[in-house]
Amino acid sequence: MMRENEWTSHYIKEISKIDKGVRAPKALVRTYGCQMNVRDSEKLSGMLAKMGYELTDDEEVADLVIFNTCCVRENAENKLYGHLGNFKERKRKKPHLKLVLCGCMMQQDIVIERIRAAYSYVDVIFGTHNLYRFPELLHSHFETGQTIIDIWSEAREIVEDLPSLREFPFKAGVNIMYGCNNFCTFCIVPHVRGRERSRRPADILAEIRAMAADGVSEVLLLGQNVNSYEFGFAQLLHDVSEIGGIERIRFTSSHPKDVSDNVIATMRDLPKVCKHLHLPFQAGSDRLLGLMNRKHSKKWYLDLVDKIRAEIPEIALTTDIMAGFPGETEEDFLDTLDVVRHARFASAFTFIYSRRLGTPADRMPDQVDEAVVGERFSRLVAEINKISLEINLQKVGKTLKILTESVGKNDVLNGRADDNSLVHFSGDSGLVGHYVDIKITGAKTFYLQGEIV
Ligand code: SAM
Ligand code: SF4
Ligand code: F3S
Repeated sequence: MMRENEWTSHYIKEISKIDKGVRAPKALVRTYGCQMNVRDSEKLSGMLAKMGYELTDDEEVADLVIFNTCCVRENAENKLYGHLGNFKERKRKKPHLKLVLCGCMMQQDIVIERIRAAYSYVDVIFGTHNLYRFPELLHSHFETGQTIIDIWSEAREIVEDLPSLREFPFKAGVNIMYGCNNFCTFCIVPHVRGRERSRRPADILAEIRAMAADGVSEVLLLGQNVNSYEFGFAQLLHDVSEIGGIERIRFTSSHPKDVSDNVIATMRDLPKVCKHLHLPFQAGSDRLLGLMNRKHSKKWYLDLVDKIRAEIPEIALTTDIMAGFPGETEEDFLDTLDVVRHARFASAFTFIYSRRLGTPADRMPDQVDEAVVGERFSRLVAEINKISLEINLQKVGKTLKILTESVGKNDVLNGRADDNSLVHFSGDSGLVGHYVDIKITGAKTFYLQGEIV
């Protein structure tokens, strides 16, 4: 019997004949959402490469397009529907074009119903729990010519050793756990990603060792709440820190309720662990925090911030904040601004609350008027930006070690400091992937400017 990859490569050869067999068929993977999806897309790209596809970024030339979707807010979903509409005409002109949908959005029945009804030209659909079956599902589609829909309501085993094509050769995300058990009342993630499952330390460490051997020097440990890693997050940081070739260890996200003294001390003591902590607080008022099921108060959060700063004075804190949760009053919102002023975040992801079907918050009374939320959101962003600029200005004159990440506009290089601040500087493109000492000469709200010393 042929193996999955062989079956699929048989069909891939058929596709390549469309262009007289002179080129490999091309695939494009479009990713929405968070680092989890970015990492999943790297695995999809790895599978596509094994099947014989060449990856492209150009929708016009692609023979297969995958949309790896996100449903955390309504606008993420709307973006997908906008794109899907364009594919009707494109598929008419290019009948062999395959359209594949996967990711968080597909875990919702209502989405599948809408796609069946309005976008019947989609070829393959799968969800978050069966990503590894993509080659087999694509094969079934080639065999039958039918739309293949396979969504699992729950995760089964963790599948290790999937191929992967990384976005960057020198830095990489590594899942340490999947799913979430926290059920914040506004959030769809636990509903579409399932319950927490931790990967075994040996599997994670083997993956990172292989990455290090392949030139990766910075790893980003990924989970919705890495502090509830089943086999001990502090110990994992110690173990990763032992791996030769790994220079920097980052992680995201941390639910404040689970940040232990042990993890704080480990961050302080291990030089490879970057002095940056992403610590979402969502809202300031105790009443809203209760309704959100965040399991801590405003004071508890600010005390945690003080404790972390006392141990690691140089730490950069970043956060996620939401405006417009149901029932949010002006007084509640002032508590949010108060947290921003006291915690002094280096930067923050700010969101307007978005109703998500099936979550408890969607059924709460007093959904806040759009205009009121918009006005609060602007005040929130202004306050955060003011503090970001103040923090950045304090870095002028300092020399920071930067990992060069990319070449930007006008050949300016972009890199990141240990504390995750973004730095622009002039230099040779050969520096990408390398560490350089940069003297900071200027500061803006969202980035620093500097020169090589
Ligand atoms: N697990 C991470 C944590 O709790 O730190 C967060 C993951 S979630 C993908 C990222 C952020 O999206 C959340 O921290 C929250 O601020 C925001 N978010 C989640 N649901 C939302 C909703 N319904 N409307 C607006 N923003 C939302
Ligand atoms: Fe969503 Fe809360 Fe889980 Fe984060 S911790 S993914 S915000 S439910
Ligand atoms: Fe979106 Fe799923 Fe991440 S809903 S934010 S891609 S876990």
